[in-house]
Amino acid sequence: MWALVLLLWTGALLRHGSCQDIASSPEEGLAPDSTGAPVEEEDPFFKVPVNKLAAAVSNFGYDLYRVKSSANPTANVLLSPLSVATALSALSLGAEQRTESIIHRALYYDLISNPDIHGTYKELLDAVTAPQKNLKSASRIVFERKLRIKSSFVAPLEKSYGTRPRILTGNPRMDLQEINNWVQTQMKGKIARSTREIPSEISILLLSVAYFKGQWVTKFDSRKTSLEDFHLDEERTVKVPMMSDPKTILRYGLDSDLSCKIAQLPLTGSMSIIFFLPLKATQNLTMIEESLTSEFIHDIDRELKTVQAVLTIPKLKLSYEGEVTKSLQEMKLQLLFDSPDFSKITGKPIKLTQVEHRVGFEWNEDGAETTSSPGLQPTRLTFLLDYHLNQPFIFVLRDTDTGALLFIGKILDPRGT
Ligand SMILES: *[C@@H]1O[C@H](CO)[C@@H](O)[C@H](O)[C@H]1NC(C)=O
Repeated sequence: MWALVLLLWTGALLRHGSCQDIASSPEEGLAPDSTGAPVEEEDPFFKVPVNKLAAAVSNFGYDLYRVKSSANPTANVLLSPLSVATALSALSLGAEQRTESIIHRALYYDLISNPDIHGTYKELLDAVTAPQKNLKSASRIVFERKLRIKSSFVAPLEKSYGTRPRILTGNPRMDLQEINNWVQTQMKGKIARSTREIPSEISILLLSVAYFKGQWVTKFDSRKTSLEDFHLDEERTVKVPMMSDPKTILRYGLDSDLSCKIAQLPLTGSMSIIFFLPLKATQNLTMIEESLTSEFIHDIDRELKTVQAVLTIPKLKLSYEGEVTKSLQEMKLQLLFDSPDFSKITGKPIKLTQVEHRVGFEWNEDGAETTSSPGLQPTRLTFLLDYHLNQPFIFVLRDTDTGALLFIGKILDPRGT
């Protein structure tokens, strides 16, 4: 696994060097060893334990995204992988060695030498759910009816993850209502109540929910929003409400190897969105998807250049409710569904049966200021760049402080699925 991660990382740096518009040296971050071959030198950013942990769980998030996206290539994808990672990380508190190491490997904890993963995870959760972030994110472990749970599991769960396990009553109507009420409380009513039935064969259900409404640092003028063409692919076009700004300041780079234009827009609360827009309209975003890692995104973030641009971007209001059970099974977590050892939770053999994910995500013209902040001075003002998100794109919502991936979306059709 080390070799793979290093290769991806080095590959990302080297590839970036070949980028025409990103003018940094490809040797940056690489130091020659005695044989002259480049070796990895860890970026100081990742030496901060909470950032390192954020990078690990975000890499799990990019994996989950890829599995989900390839399972249904013609549909939008909307995920808050952090909330899924949180549920898994919390569950690992109840896992004995082999089971624990399987979860830890999926979350890339095996690459972290941190004796207090769960304590650091609390730090991460506190950082990304601080009120100014506008992010609501919650995770919960639900157990089969009448299960007796050890208090030695409950206490650390509450301490690091701020969540109490739920034990089903066995009455489907009451259980659904209780779960819905919990989601409503956590998300402050921003996510619709579910009508899905509680499956009857639950042993362990992981529930992860998240909601985000973006506040741009510079708000859009709603008088400039109009119905415009969105190219679903090279042939089909639909009309969607598109916001625009004839003279915005954004951070930009052209990745010639990925054939895509990358842009970053800041949000309030030390958050930002990075867009990946292919040079031509296509639903096949595989090449970009394959390159997504925490380290790659971190490098992009450093190397984008501030420019002035004509920007158009669709208004977006999406939600997703469904299972990511199959996706996790494909991510080397199958053992959790077959014969895991959760004897730190209970004496009875239990196993993971469902992983539910419910999320809502939106952005519109709302933002903090009407004009660009004076702190953002474009480096090149020689020409106005065009950046039109009027065809399929990928977006990545990150917490700038820790680098944590909070939401990821593949927008093939902004009208929703
Ligand atoms: C999508 O693009 C990748 C890489 O360019 C290619 O290998 C793959 O065959 C394409 N998939 C489809 C369904 O066209």
